[in-house]
Amino acid sequence: MRNLAVVGAQWGDEGKGKVVDLLCERFDVVARFQGGPNAGHTVKFGETCHALHHVPSGVFRPDVRIVIGNGTVLDLARLLEELEGLRSAGIDLTGRLFISDRAHVILPMMKELDAIQEDAAGTGGKIGTTLRGIGPTYQAKAARIGLRLGEALKEDTLADRIANILSGPLGNQLRQVDNAGQADAVAIAKDTAAMAGRLKPYIADTALLLNQWSDDGLGILFEGAQGTLLDVDHGSYPFVTSSNTVTGGLCGGLGIAPTLLSGVLGVFKAYTTRVGSGPMPTELEDGPDGFGQKLRDRGHEYGTTTGRPRRCGWFDGVAAWYAHRLNRFESACITLLDVLDDFDHILICTGYTLDGDPITGFPSCAADAERIEPVYETLPGWKIDTTGIRKWEDLPANAIAYLDRLSDVVGVEIGMVGVGPDRTQSIIRPGSSLAARLK
Ligand code: IMP
Repeated sequence: MRNLAVVGAQWGDEGKGKVVDLLCERFDVVARFQGGPNAGHTVKFGETCHALHHVPSGVFRPDVRIVIGNGTVLDLARLLEELEGLRSAGIDLTGRLFISDRAHVILPMMKELDAIQEDAAGTGGKIGTTLRGIGPTYQAKAARIGLRLGEALKEDTLADRIANILSGPLGNQLRQVDNAGQADAVAIAKDTAAMAGRLKPYIADTALLLNQWSDDGLGILFEGAQGTLLDVDHGSYPFVTSSNTVTGGLCGGLGIAPTLLSGVLGVFKAYTTRVGSGPMPTELEDGPDGFGQKLRDRGHEYGTTTGRPRRCGWFDGVAAWYAHRLNRFESACITLLDVLDDFDHILICTGYTLDGDPITGFPSCAADAERIEPVYETLPGWKIDTTGIRKWEDLPANAIAYLDRLSDVVGVEIGMVGVGPDRTQSIIRPGSSLAARLK
């Protein structure tokens, strides 16, 4: 059994898509288990750049089956647009795309509610969500009034189901702000059923299929969205997304038992970024000429989904260690090493203090996390362009020393390093467990 998970080990945007893209020719299935159109990655295919939000990156390999699992939330209009874009690029999805009948539908008012909840939170409490309706849709799911994709096909009962949502607490929130709560359940039901109808050929009981395929010996690659520190239980709560982004989330989000998983790869940037609010101990707020802006410029650190500038900072070894404890990575993939090519010195956060005392792990309370003081080690930079390097032994000695120190601090082997956006700009470390998997 060779099922493998690839998950983000920081605050999202770690470059998981590139790692999945590299690995997925060795797998028969790529499956996504949580999140929705809050995720975004751009994949260059032919001459065109495709922004994918719901569909996992494996879609560009024609032999790979694609699963969007029950733990995800779907904006049907956007999903249809995404599929249309893929079809017009010549990507055939027939018989290879499977969308769970239990995934929850993001109804139009969920996006309004996302904005209303953010406004109501005030300056200090705003999460800085992607405003895609993710939180309210998971709220409806947990409150047991949400709408599953399979139910969206049933036009006769759909208006009642939507009216039920509108008459409950979420509908009350809408009505307090404007007359959106007066939304016409019948009209929404008609649109939703029409969109679900177009998706019907792909809708399936994906948990049963995945288990069957695994029994048949097919290899499944599980693709996480967002990152470990955005996990609703283990992340920097409340400044998190609304799903379980840690590896464990794939069991609930796909109907897969933990015994069907053979390993986990963690994807880390060579530094740290975050979008939205919340604690980020190593953030560099040092102005337009500072290192933070240099990381942003060199790493093109602007969100794929929202275009927002990402907050940038040095590698946070404590947060990374914490992520490793939660996911038990077999190997780490360090992306965007080349962004650090032009720094004289590079810092790594190797410890935290809170009110002067050293602490272990990430505090449970955001107010404490905001007061963390990072403890840094300084390493010399390498000042050499690494983008053309393809072998581990050709990396500059200082870059290898930096990677070795990251490996020590996090407590995990480094199996891969990315030195540019292209599929070919990836270096596999000889002798690593990742290299063994790729043999
Ligand atoms: P939501 O998922 O839209 O509710 O946003 C909650 C938090 O997660 C916000 O801080 C977002 O910026 C962040 N977030 C959601 N999706 C992503 C992602 O794909 N990459 C990075 N941050 C994300």
